[in-house]
Amino acid sequence: MIKRSLLLSLLLATGAVQAQDKTAAQPDLAKAKLTAEQICGACHGADGNSQIPANPKLAGQHAEYLYKQLRNFKGENGQPAERNNGIMAGMVAGLSDADMKGLAAHFSSQTLKPEVAKNKDSITLGQKLWRAGDVSRGIPACAACHGPAGAGLPAQYPRLAGQFAEYTETQLKSFRAGERANDPNKMMRTIALKMTDPEIKAVADYAAGLR
Ligand code: HEC
Ligand code: HEC
Repeated sequence: MIKRSLLLSLLLATGAVQAQDKTAAQPDLAKAKLTAEQICGACHGADGNSQIPANPKLAGQHAEYLYKQLRNFKGENGQPAERNNGIMAGMVAGLSDADMKGLAAHFSSQTLKPEVAKNKDSITLGQKLWRAGDVSRGIPACAACHGPAGAGLPAQYPRLAGQFAEYTETQLKSFRAGERANDPNKMMRTIALKMTDPEIKAVADYAAGLR
């Protein structure tokens, strides 16, 4: 009997802790919306649908991924930023951890207005890389991690469907050059290193058209 009540109180205690954590982690969405409208919106659109290809669309992206990127732009504990971008470094400098969680939740809950694929000539190549990769050269299918329709998989794998092809291309080249180095286990750097410019362009355009 003693054992049983001990177990019960342990369970209750864990439950209480979880409930508390939940409240503490609840992002301030009203504040995030305001920041989005007043600051981020200038480049990403207040609803996360940027109009300019250099600025990624954030709408509908997984919150965990967005939050990780914001932290990576910041550089923590005196370490240099894992994702080095001058513009975004300035943007995150004044954000608290709670602000970043809120902004990630805000943009994640917005509806993506997707781009389209624009280059008919490279669709076949893009589709092949997306679905099958190039086994002989050790390039895995993008679909394996980012999903057949490019929706990604929370928490690690971002959505690529509907993103600006120009932005996707820049990121792939940046991974290839090792300038963007925030991918866990060098997942993206290893892949991009094996890709040619035409392949990067083709798969980026293909991903823009995915739904
Ligand atoms: C002056 C323009 C500008 C403003 C304002 C701005 N950003 Fe950005 N943001 C960029 C650019 C450019 C990039 C792409 C950086 C790169 O190429 O690595 C980016 C990238 C990002 C990314 C990474 C997205 C991805 O798919 O990996 C996130 C998240 C982000 N911004 C969030 C924000 C938030 C939140 C704010 C407001 C606090 C904000 N940005 C304000 C220009 C801006
Ligand atoms: C083994 C899993 C894996 C495979 C396969 C993979 N990726 Fe990724 N990719 C990732 C992870 C993980 C990230 C997130 C890195 C981070 O945390 O910043 C990512 C991020 C990206 C980004 C950055 C997105 C953004 O919003 O900035 C692009 C672009 C990308 N991948 C393109 C591709 C393409 C194209 C392929 C196929 C040639 C591919 N990936 C295959 C795991 C993978």
